[in-house]
Order: sequence, then structure tokens, then C-alpha cells
Amino acid sequence: VGQLAAGIAHDFNNILTSISGFTELTQMAPDISPAVSANLEKIISASQRAANLVRQLLDFSRKTIRNPKRFDLAETIREAANFFDRAIPENIKIVLAVAPGEFTVKADPTQIQQVITNLVINARDAMPNGGELSLELDHLEADETLTCVACGLPMAGTWLTITVKDSGEGISPEVLPHIFEPFFTTKPVGEGTGLGLSQVFGIINQHDGHITIASEIGKGTTFKVYLPTSERLDGVIETPPQPDLKHGHGETILIVEDESIVLDACRSVLEHLGYRTLTTESGREALAIYQAQKNDIAMVITDMVMPDMDGSALFMALKAETPGIKVVLMSGYPLNENGKELLEMGVVAWLEKPISFKQLSNVVSNALSVKQGRWSKPY
Ligand SMILES: Nc1ncnc2c1ncn2[C@@H]1O[C@H](COP(=O)(O)OP(=O)(O)O)[C@@H](O)[C@H]1O
Ligand SMILES: [Mg+2]
Repeated sequence: VGQLAAGIAHDFNNILTSISGFTELTQMAPDISPAVSANLEKIISASQRAANLVRQLLDFSRKTIRNPKRFDLAETIREAANFFDRAIPENIKIVLAVAPGEFTVKADPTQIQQVITNLVINARDAMPNGGELSLELDHLEADETLTCVACGLPMAGTWLTITVKDSGEGISPEVLPHIFEPFFTTKPVGEGTGLGLSQVFGIINQHDGHITIASEIGKGTTFKVYLPTSERLDGVIETPPQPDLKHGHGETILIVEDESIVLDACRSVLEHLGYRTLTTESGREALAIYQAQKNDIAMVITDMVMPDMDGSALFMALKAETPGIKVVLMSGYPLNENGKELLEMGVVAWLEKPISFKQLSNVVSNALSVKQGRWSKPY
């Protein structure tokens, strides 16, 4: 299911890149009327909702942390408690308990918020007649006897734990083995998507964390999430903040993308920003175009997965032509080992779809402003 989900999510991302790209572009046009602008806002917000659903699926199947930062989990959990105190029904009492000590993690703050949100919403749904919902943050020294319900692995070591506990209906032994499956839900159509816990599972997995559950019918359920302490995640690269749109000065960019809607969107945006573009849907053709016009081409932006010659093969072939060539890779997948190797070899950036055009403008403009070679961490 994970594989299938990732495949569908990948196609959806291409479509969403095109929808939001053209909408952003239309919004930049001068003299659009307030009515049109309001409609465009609606398109953007609808495509953001769609992107959120896709994110839930991709979070389930991806292997790496999306946007790691160092932050204080205690602050996150306090904010969450504050927010949910207002957002959930009044007959549910929220109790917050933060143990003393250090709670710094290196994690994706948005993803961790998502984990807490999904668990809290499930707890709320389990208490239709009200009850108590406690959020706890603590440290825990686990021995080998403790195993993760999601991945089945033993989890000896030191952990930071987030506990979400409800006094609701509980989970039956028949239901329990299925709750992390994508699309598994016991809720009526329209109320449950069955994606909440699969997203939790994926996110926790990427953070090298674990989950345990204790549940008793009629009494309630306790979900405990285990995250590594920050020292254990020191290898993780933090992502820089993104500044505003940057414009070009007529430099020529070769865009290679087999998905024509994405190709169109990238071309339109880059031309809008003041670049000249050459486009092709084939890696082999891209190489031929480069060989014929290499003195005019300032950089190459290419998709990773293409039928005839993929992004990494194209990069190697281009590098053989011009050792310091600037190549940006676009992919439906997050940075993997292969991607890291390509960055080591001089690829200037790895862009994950759906691509924000702010990112694209920054990556292109930064890459062009540097004389040669490697300048960037993955975006
Ligand atoms: N706190 C809880 N108490 C009781 N059942 C739960 C709880 N959390 C999750 N579940 C069960 O796990 C199922 C899957 O949860 P989830 O993946 O979040 O999807 P959804 O909430 O859309 O149904 C739920 O439909 C429910 O049966
Ligand atoms: Mg849910």
C-alpha cells in the first residue's frame, strides 16, 4: 500500500505543481480585478488542501526528515495544549504535564505538530461524551523489553516521550493491528480518512522514533511517541529560510522534464522572472541541445525520473562536457543517498516537488551568482 500511495502521491504532486504554479503566475499579472483575485485565492487554498492530503500519503512512505530544525519540544507541546484547549469541545478537559529537564530535538517542527494534532484529534473522536485528554512530555530510559507497535523493533536507549492519553472508548484487539494502515478507519465516511495514524507512523519512522500503545475498552487509550534526544540526530542538516522572489537577466536555462504540465509551469515561471528557456521532455535530447548550444546555456534544471535517460545520467553526461556545469535536480521524492552523492559530485540543488516557485527562483538565482562548483545544501 505504501508503494502505491507514494506512486499516486507522486503523480498528484506533478499536477499540483502545475495548478499552483499557474495560479501564482496569474496572480502576478498586473490589473487583475478583485473578483478574479478572490477566485485565484480559492484555487490556491484548494490546491493547498490537496497538497496536504498528498503530504499525509508521502509522510507515510518517505524515509527522510523533511525540514529538520533544532527546537524545544516543551514549547511545542505547550502551544499545542493552548491551541487545543480552545479548538476541541468543552466537555473534554485538557491536562498538560511537562517534566523538568531538556527537551531539545532536531526534527521537522511542522511534522511533529502534525503528529500531536493527529493523536489529539483521534483522542477527541474517542470521547464523544467528553472526558480527559492529557498531553505529557518526559524522558525515558527504555530496556530491550519495550518494543515499538509500529515497526516491531526493540527500543533500548534514552528517549524524549510525548504522551497523548484519552479516557475514551478504547481500541479493540481486532482493530488494533490495523490502525497504522493507510486508509484504515472505523469512522463513518466523511469523518475519517484513515490517514492520520499512517502519517504519524511515517513521520516517527523518519525521525528514528517509535510508538507504543496501551488501550482498554471503555477506559481509554494512551499513545506514547518516542523521539531521539538531540545529540543522537547531530548528522541531520538544517534547512535555511527562504527569502523573496529573485529575478533573472536573460540568462538561458535548459529545462528537462518528461511531465509536460510541470515543464510548462517551470518554463512560464522562469520566463516571467526574466530568464530565457530551452525545454525538452527527454534526457537524451537535453544532452544534444546542450552540446549544440553550450556557450549560451547558463544552467540546466532536470527532473530525476525520466524514461530514456534519467536526471543523474544526464548530470554525469553534462559534467563530462563541462566539469563545472550548474545542474538542479527536481524530484518527487525527498533527498536520498543517491541524491546526496550527486550533491557531493557538484549538483547545485535538490528540489522536492511540488516545487514552490520562490524556491525555484532562489535556487536558480543563487546558482547563477556563484562562479562554479558547489554552493548549496539540499533545499
Ligand atoms: N485514541 C483512540 N481511541 C480509539 N480508537 C482510536 C484512537 N486513535 C485511533 N483509533 C482507531 O484507529 C483508526 C485509525 O485512525 P487514523 O489513522 O487517525 O484514521 P481516522 O482518524 O481518519 O479514522 C480510527 O478509525 C480508530 O478506529
Ligand atoms: Mg485520525
